Amino acid sequence: MDVHQLIRNRRSIYPSQYSGEIIDDSIIHDIMENANWAPNHYHTEPWRYIIFKEKGLTKLMATLAELYKSNSGDAFNEAKYQRYAARAKQVSHAIVIVVELSDKPNLPEVEEISAVACSVQNILLTASSYPNIGGYWSSGMLVYLPEFAEFLDLEDNQTCLGTVYLGSLKKDAIQPKSTRRPIGEKIKWVTK
Ligand SMILES: Cc1cc2nc3c(=O)[nH]c(=O)nc-3n(C[C@H](O)[C@H](O)[C@H](O)COP(=O)(O)O)c2cc1C
Repeated sequence: MDVHQLIRNRRSIYPSQYSGEIIDDSIIHDIMENANWAPNHYHTEPWRYIIFKEKGLTKLMATLAELYKSNSGDAFNEAKYQRYAARAKQVSHAIVIVVELSDKPNLPEVEEISAVACSVQNILLTASSYPNIGGYWSSGMLVYLPEFAEFLDLEDNQTCLGTVYLGSLKKDAIQPKSTRRPIGEKIKWVTK
């Protein structure tokens, strides 16, 4: 597929559109190989990924459900709580995104996070190059909780940035629409 089309047609597709069918691990390996080819400063390659599938995925969703329950207070919503368990049946692979900060001097944290975001875009673009795979980057306050870092067994120099959920699309899956304000509004040209 033409790169322009690939970039503009990539959409965040949510688990309600997934069939539950498992994506072959060979495809996941190809997607992750592309994740490894993101630009990064000082060659730190700061992206780390933890891939959950099968019983691991069920455990991840159960953990997020309980974190949601214990952290939502008055805003607790039973339907939202139940959605975590449903998600374990819809999603094929959950790829937890982690940045690992190096101890290089003069390397701002923002550059390391930027490199990971480039890597995640490679995942999303590669996934969307398969007509029957949907995916999106999910974050939300739960992923930043220390309890979640503990569940992931993160090191002190690692921070979770969310999860890419990937799933096989249902036959009648709806391709979501998305819009952008014109790029011209976001660019300043300097010519002299
Ligand atoms: C860092 C980051 C975090 C995101 N977190 C969420 C999220 O928690 N829930 C969600 O529904 N979408 C999340 N998204 C996806 C955006 O909602 C989505 O990219 C946006 O609506 C534009 O749609 P598109 O990706 O189809 O162009 C996130 C995207 C990014 C880049």
